[in-house]
Amino acid sequence: MKQHLLFTPGPVNVVQNVREAICKQEICHREIDFEYLLQSIENKLLTLFEIKNRADYRAVVITGSGTAANESMLSSVVAGKNILILSNGEFGERLHNISKIHNENTFLLEFNWGEELSLKKIKDFLQIQKIDIIAMVHHETSSGMLNPLEKIGKLAKSHGAIFIVDCVSSAGAEVIDLEKCNITFCSSSSSKAIGSYPGLSFVVGETQEFEKLKNLPIKSMYLNLYKFYDFIKTFSQTPNTPAVHSFYALNQALSNILNEGIQNRYANLRDKANKLRQGMLSLGLKFVINQKDMCSILTTVYTPSYIDVGVLRQKLREKSIIIYEGKGCFKNRAFQVGNIGDLSFTDIQYFLDSLKKVLDSFKPTGEILPIIELVRTLSVVGISSQIQKPTPEIEKISTNILISKATL
Ligand SMILES: Cc1ncc(COP(=O)(O)O)c(C=O)c1O
Repeated sequence: MKQHLLFTPGPVNVVQNVREAICKQEICHREIDFEYLLQSIENKLLTLFEIKNRADYRAVVITGSGTAANESMLSSVVAGKNILILSNGEFGERLHNISKIHNENTFLLEFNWGEELSLKKIKDFLQIQKIDIIAMVHHETSSGMLNPLEKIGKLAKSHGAIFIVDCVSSAGAEVIDLEKCNITFCSSSSSKAIGSYPGLSFVVGETQEFEKLKNLPIKSMYLNLYKFYDFIKTFSQTPNTPAVHSFYALNQALSNILNEGIQNRYANLRDKANKLRQGMLSLGLKFVINQKDMCSILTTVYTPSYIDVGVLRQKLREKSIIIYEGKGCFKNRAFQVGNIGDLSFTDIQYFLDSLKKVLDSFKPTGEILPIIELVRTLSVVGISSQIQKPTPEIEKISTNILISKATL
C-alpha cells in the first residue's frame, strides 16, 4: 500500500519504473549521455503532441515547474506586440499576471471561473482590437474545465494571431494535436498527467516561430526561450545546469505513455474519471461544471453543506487519501479529486468507500439537513456565475451545526 494515494491534479503517485529511473548513476550533463537523453525526450514530446511534420517543430525542456515554461513563452514571444489572454479561472489569471510583468500591451478577456469561453465575445473583441498573440489555458485546473483548443486555434489563425497554450494539466491525458489546433507554442510540466516527478517543464513549438525569437528583446536571463531552442538545436544541450535525474524520470514517464498509446491512455483516464464521477454522484454530490466540459483527469465537487472542506480533507488524509481544496471563488465551497498517476480502479473504489464513510459520519439526520441547506441558500451573496458564497456569520452557524453533529 502506498503511503498516500494522491487523488490530486498533480503531483502524482509515480509508477515503479519512473521511481527507479530517478535513481540512475550520475552523469555529467555536458557529456554525450545527456545529449542522447535530451534528444530522446524531445522526440517523445513531439510524438506526444501528434507532430507529423517533425522538422517543423521543436521541444525544449526547462528545469523549473510549469510556471517556468509559461513565463518563458510569455516573456520571449510578445516583444512590443499585442497579446490577448483568455481567462476563466486561476491559471488564466496567472497567465495574465505573468504577461503584465513582461508585456506592456497585455489585454484580458475574462470569464467567470467555471464558465465556458464565449467565442462570440472573443470574436467581437478581435474586431475592435488588433491582437498578435492569443494565450489561454487548455485545462483550467481551478474548475476542471477543458477549453476548446481547436476552435480558438482556428479563430487565432483567421485573425493572423499566433496561439500560445498552457497545457500544464492536460498534456499526457487529453489528445492534443498541435498542428491541427494551430498551436504555435504550448507548455506543460513533468508532474501532472505526464506522470513524473515535479521540477521539469517544457515548451513545444513551431521551428520557424522559435527562429523568429532570435532578434526580440531579452526580458529574462534564465527563461529566454530562444536560448533554450538555440542550445538544443546547436548542441543538444540546455543553457544551464539541468536537473539531470529528473530528465531520466521524465524520459521514462514519456516512454510509458507512448508504449500505452496516447488514445489508450486517454480512454483509460476517461474510464477512471467516469467511475469516480458516477460514484460521487451516487453519494448525492454535485459537480461545479457539466461533465461534458470536464477534462479526463479531475472532478471539482461542491462540498456538502454539512461538512467543512478542511475537515473532509483531514478525514480522508487519515485514510491515506489526499485531495485538493477549491481555490479562489471555490474556496470553502468545493474540493477536487484527480485520477492521474499510479491509481488503479481498486484505489478509486477505496476512495469512494472512504468518502462515503466520512460523509455518512457527518451527515445530519432527520430535519437538520434541510435546515442547513436552507441557511446556505438564504445566505447567498454576490452570486458570480453558479457560485454561492455564504456570509461569514452563516458559515459560522453552519460550522456550529457541523461541530455539534460531529461531537454528538
Ligand atoms: C493549468 C496550470 N497552469 C500552470 C500551473 C502552474 O504549474 P506549476 O505549479 O508547476 O508551476 C498549474 C499548476 O497546477 C496548472 O494547473
